[in-house]
Amino acid sequence: MKRTPEQLRSHRWFGPDTLRAFGHRSRIKQMGYALEEFQGRPVIAILNTWSDIACCHTHFRDRAEQVRRGVWSAGGFPLEIPVTSLAEQFQKPSAMMYRNLLAMETEEVLRSYPIDGAVLMGGCDKTTPALVMGAISVDLPVIFLPAGPMLRGNWRGRPVGSGTEVWRAWAERQAGKLSECAWRELEDGIARSPGHCMTMGTASTMTAAVEALGLSLPGASSIPAVDATHGRMAAACGRRIVELVWEDRRPSTIVTPSSFDNAIITVLALGGSTNAVIHLIALARRAGVDLSLERFDALSRMTPVLADIQPGGRHLMEDFYYAGGLRALLARVRELLVLEAGTVAEGSLGDAISGAEVHDSEVIRPIDRPVSPSGALAILHGSLAPDGAVIKAVAADPALLRHRGPAVVFEDQADVEARADDPDLPVTPDSVLVLKRSGPIGAPGMPEWGMLPIPRRLLQAGVRDMVRISDARMSGTSYGTCVLHVAPEAAVGGPLALVRDGDEIELDVPGRRLDLLVPDQELRGRRADFTPTVPTGLSGYGELYVRHVTQANLGCDFDFLARRADVREPVIH
Ligand code: FES
Repeated sequence: MKRTPEQLRSHRWFGPDTLRAFGHRSRIKQMGYALEEFQGRPVIAILNTWSDIACCHTHFRDRAEQVRRGVWSAGGFPLEIPVTSLAEQFQKPSAMMYRNLLAMETEEVLRSYPIDGAVLMGGCDKTTPALVMGAISVDLPVIFLPAGPMLRGNWRGRPVGSGTEVWRAWAERQAGKLSECAWRELEDGIARSPGHCMTMGTASTMTAAVEALGLSLPGASSIPAVDATHGRMAAACGRRIVELVWEDRRPSTIVTPSSFDNAIITVLALGGSTNAVIHLIALARRAGVDLSLERFDALSRMTPVLADIQPGGRHLMEDFYYAGGLRALLARVRELLVLEAGTVAEGSLGDAISGAEVHDSEVIRPIDRPVSPSGALAILHGSLAPDGAVIKAVAADPALLRHRGPAVVFEDQADVEARADDPDLPVTPDSVLVLKRSGPIGAPGMPEWGMLPIPRRLLQAGVRDMVRISDARMSGTSYGTCVLHVAPEAAVGGPLALVRDGDEIELDVPGRRLDLLVPDQELRGRRADFTPTVPTGLSGYGELYVRHVTQANLGCDFDFLARRADVREPVIH
């Protein structure tokens, strides 16, 4: 049933005949608005992650205006509110460290101001989970507006993908097979327009996952950032959020265990980023949904990879859009989905994908000709990862998915940079590269260091993949036989901390095992010598982060931000 103006949350600020409400009204009027322009209308926050350093969001000023137009036209009152940018390329040690900061900011901005609903503008990797985590916690009506992928890169007349092509070219350059001139031309052509990375990296994965969760308009996540359709979608977000406020349709009425299954299946069918595992668990815990690593593995065993997109495949997000986009992909796996799940649109997920067609079966493959019949991601357990680890099996060398070899250990990332190319490093193609202290606490911020570089000597000998193990994450645009998110992490005493050069390690992806083949008695002795390595000398937020961040298998959220249904509305005096 539609709410009345008196039932709007903002009415508490603007409606009463009190001294405080007088102050609120007079200060909105100070900005040049008449009473009839805001009182009794849904107040819509446009949370904008634009800034001069947010290279993936350079179109967001225009998009905010288009959202604003939609809000006005539907009878709402738009207020654009800037929130922090998490610019993946620039923020150190990792934008991941600041995901929870933006999540907290989103929650607190929406709660503390007279906001009835919000359009959340994000897309660059961590902005998407951060905005949605905060929105789930505050539980006001929201629509997530995805930034959209940038256009295909162009290098010497051929399309090239964010990250993926760069890693390959860098390996060739390290092997002495790529000229300085060619390398510079790649730098000029790899990022040609506004928008997020256009491979199936974390940005494309998470915007699709949020659409499948039901929190974006159908088809929104696939639209290239610079396509005119993107601007029309932004205006549609503005119109629809006003309706959602009148309907009082909140994330808690949309996001359910079924919608998380839909989101996971989406990630898997896309061959999406391993980072989605962490972010979806964090989102689920905010929503009070019990989501474990095992659920990803179970769904991975039954979900085919259909999107032939880099880094696991050949094409790019622009091709995906022309091929029909996410709606078409979901239509191909509709038997696996819970079609009754709700969305911010007027109907269910089933309604959202109804009539969707694939226009190019090379980009969105048919069920009987998948990129991989199953197993996009695999969850591993074993003596080296008691609380789990993740591998993107479709981006790995199949010959390495069962492998046993001696460890070559790097104590931290600085050690990698100092010694990886040391000609005396005792490394062979069969070695297992191990990186410690790169987890949520140890780094801190769990940077994307998990695709350890192949030592130059091996690159020059033609080696292009090796087994690599760490408590780090990996860019969604990366590839290789990289075991990631090992939990517990080394810095707090996970078994990874005890690995030494020469230890035998066994990886068995089909058997979902990761084991350190060292006798228990020896490990007990090493443990007696171990001291935790929690970083010191951090800023205020850094201190908060290392004290409260959870391990990767729990989503790396702060331990005090799990579902809290009893948070009070602010008192207005
Ligand atoms: Fe923004 Fe890749 S740098 S999505």
